[in-house]
Parts: sequence; structure tokens; C-alpha cells
Amino acid sequence: MNVFRIRPATGHDARVLADMLVEAANWNPVRARSRLTVLDDPAVRHYVVGWQRPGDFGCVAEDAQGVAVGACWARLFPADHPGYGFVAAGVPELTLGVYPQWRAQGAGRALLRELGRTAAARGHARLSLSVERTNFAQRLYLSEGYVIVASRDGSDTMVRTVR
Ligand SMILES: CC(C)(COP(=O)(O)OP(=O)(O)OC[C@H]1O[C@@H](n2cnc3c(N)ncnc32)[C@H](O)[C@@H]1OP(=O)(O)O)[C@@H](O)C(=O)NCCC(=O)NCCS
Repeated sequence: MNVFRIRPATGHDARVLADMLVEAANWNPVRARSRLTVLDDPAVRHYVVGWQRPGDFGCVAEDAQGVAVGACWARLFPADHPGYGFVAAGVPELTLGVYPQWRAQGAGRALLRELGRTAAARGHARLSLSVERTNFAQRLYLSEGYVIVASRDGSDTMVRTVR
């Protein structure tokens, strides 16, 4: 049984999102960098800097005590400052992470589904993401209806229609 609940992300969740961004960037422990190094990298940092801007949306999973379990959020990027999973201006790109001690208990899939519902409710037609092909997370995305639309340097850009 899931012992977490999911709520909308707020402006107070910047720290949790930064934690999850570090988890996502460091998914492969062989190539893991320090938290500071990851968050200093402009190509990574722009997924969370200034959270929560207009247009940003997301959700946070919490345990019974209200402690964060993981998060999934999305942000719009302009074509001249794209994210790794950029497909078009107006298509939000998502980031997903679950704290290690909470993995493989359904939180990642639940967060991904909730983000899709939130995106649709906000009037978005699609969500995009970037994932390295060797990250098992890609199987999660495939099983949730995301399709590969571009590939580069071992990473795939994936898109899902949300309504
Ligand atoms: C990817 C991630 C968010 C998944 O979250 P999670 O809560 O562990 O995932 P879930 O429990 O919802 O499981 C989703 C699916 O992945 C599978 N899975 C979970 N852990 C796995 C593992 N270590 N190896 C292979 N498959 C795994 C599950 O079996 C499940 O599939 P199923 O429903 O068919 O059984 C989490 O592992 C994570 O934070 N990883 C590091 C950050 C990251 O890589 N983010 C994505 C960057 S694109």
C-alpha cells in the first residue's frame, strides 16, 4: 500500500525540487557529481532557478509525516534557452525524482501521472522530457505513453500527449 500522498508543488518546494534535480542529474552513480557542482551547472540549474515562476507547475509526494518523498515538475523554456528535452516553445519539459529510500514503491509513476493531469488541467496538450537511454526510467516513461521523438548522444527526447 502506498503511504505517501501527492500535493501540488508550491513556491516553498525549491529545496525539494533541487534535491530531485540532483538525483536526476546523478542517476548514474558512476558519473555522480557533488550537489554544488550539479546546481552550479547552468544547463542543469535552469530547471529550478527562480522556482516558482509563472508557468511552472508540479507535484510533491509526501510521507504520512509530511516529509517529501519525491517530486515531478515542469517548466517552459524558450527556443533560445532550451532544456535537454525541448521540443517547442509552449511544451513544458518535466523533471522527475524520488529520494533513494522511497524508490520502487510507486511514487515515481504516481507523480508522473499527476503531473500529466495537472498539465492537461492547465491547458497544455503535451509534455516533454529527456532521458538517457540506459536509465531504467525510460521504461517507466514508455509505459506511461511517452514516445521517443529525437535522439542524441545516448539520450532520447520523449513526448506525451496529455489531453
Ligand atoms: C526514476 C524514478 C523517479 C522512478 O521512481 P520510483 O518511485 O522508483 O518508480 P516506481 O516505484 O513508480 O516504479 C516505476 C517503474 O520502474 C520500475 N523500477 C523501479 N525501480 C527500478 C530499478 N531500480 N530498476 C529497474 N526498474 C525499476 C518499477 O518496477 C516500476 O515498473 P512496474 O510498475 O512495471 O513494476 C526514481 O528511480 C529516481 O528518482 N531515479 C533517479 C532520478 C532519475 O533518474 N530521474 C529521471 C531522470 S530522466
